[in-house]
Amino acid sequence: MQAENHIYPIFDRMLGRADKEALLHQHSVMIWFTGLSGSGKSTIAIALERELQKRGLLCRILDGDNIRSGINNNLGFSAEDRVENIRRIAEVGKLFVETGIITLAAFISPNNELREMASRIIGKENFLEIYVSTPLEECERRDVKGLYAKARKGEIRNFTGISAPFEAPAHPDLSLDTSKLSVEESVNRLLELILPRVKAE
Ligand code: PPS
Repeated sequence: MQAENHIYPIFDRMLGRADKEALLHQHSVMIWFTGLSGSGKSTIAIALERELQKRGLLCRILDGDNIRSGINNNLGFSAEDRVENIRRIAEVGKLFVETGIITLAAFISPNNELREMASRIIGKENFLEIYVSTPLEECERRDVKGLYAKARKGEIRNFTGISAPFEAPAHPDLSLDTSKLSVEESVNRLLELILPRVKAE
């Protein structure tokens, strides 16, 4: 076995993150959006992805639509299930980051412990925390999916902001209140933060 490795040193290791980043002409990072349901996390992530793609930068969005319907479709909203939800998302996100892809994760991730776990799994140096700080009143006024009304009537248990807690991040890398900022303004603030670190020299 030793001899084989010696003869074929090129097969010694999988290509790594730096190889992938060089191929893509970019540096990867995890952009982790946290905030209440309806705060605008996915909307901003989708608009940001388009702006990054225009600049030749490859992204992957992870959100409830592609995660809770698939890999996490056996999980609900108990405290334990939220831990497992975020743990799996962080592990999947880490794979994307290691592939050189700018990864945008949009999940309520309602407390510091969950967000710290995600940051630990992905690596602190790869992790930017974006707090979509739109107030509960505004999220409830929008009630895009009608879930707040159901939660108020007691038809949904453990609903974040109503019957389950949301702990605001203490030191996010950026806060965006979509009751005050347009999607375009939010995306511009994100671009300012992100472009210097993802563009290849
Ligand atoms: S978490 O807390 O990070 O595990 O939640 P997440 O995976 O982001 O899923 C949140 C979306 O699920 C819908 N939903 C609920 N949210 C909070 N609490 C309860 N009980 C609940 N039940 C269903 C809700 O539409 C959230 O959607 P977003 O996209 O955040 O608006």
